Amino acid sequence: MKYTGRVSTPKERKKTPNDVVMTNPNTAKWIVDYFAPSGKLLEPCKGNGAFYNSLQNYGDTDWCEISEGKDFFNYTKKVDWIITNPPFSIFDDFLLKSFDIANNVVFFCPLTKVFKGKRLDTKICEYGGIKEIIHMGGGNQHGFPFGFSTGCIHYQKDYKENNIKLIRNYNEIRP
Ligand SMILES: C[S@@+](CC[C@H](N)C(=O)[O-])C[C@H]1O[C@@H](n2cnc3c(N)ncnc32)[C@H](O)[C@@H]1O
Repeated sequence: MKYTGRVSTPKERKKTPNDVVMTNPNTAKWIVDYFAPSGKLLEPCKGNGAFYNSLQNYGDTDWCEISEGKDFFNYTKKVDWIITNPPFSIFDDFLLKSFDIANNVVFFCPLTKVFKGKRLDTKICEYGGIKEIIHMGGGNQHGFPFGFSTGCIHYQKDYKENNIKLIRNYNEIRP
């Protein structure tokens, strides 16, 4: 099944400044070590490489980054894990594209994205489900220019259990 398609955020929508906020490398390392991914790994929008550098400790890791001429929407290989902080203005399209190629998707983002809306939620259910959420405090703790609750959402293909594990890590992860 193909999941890619417009839900609510058109891909061509103008980028916002939050689209190029880079993740603190120690935050990225904590997240990657927590999930300990294996198999084929992908950082679909590597920016400065915070997630990419940590993912390389766990397996065969590939990357995309539009500013370096590798558009994630043109990537077609299948992977076991995607772990990233995605561009927020095209969150839905990035998530649906990730569903097309990955068995596990972890997005580090404002946690309001969990409740984006019924149409996106339907697509999430077609793919599998949300297996786990990690609340990591306010975005400011991780170098983001906003204080909204921020953390990881782990989507897993074919995850049909009707429960979501909720973890809290409010500790500041220092650079
Ligand atoms: C919020 S930043 C995060 C960068 C990196 N993932 C991190 O966690 O530090 C999002 C990145 O997505 C890149 N990007 C935006 N659209 C993209 C696309 N279609 N394909 C690949 N990268 C894209 C931007 O250039 C930017 O570097």
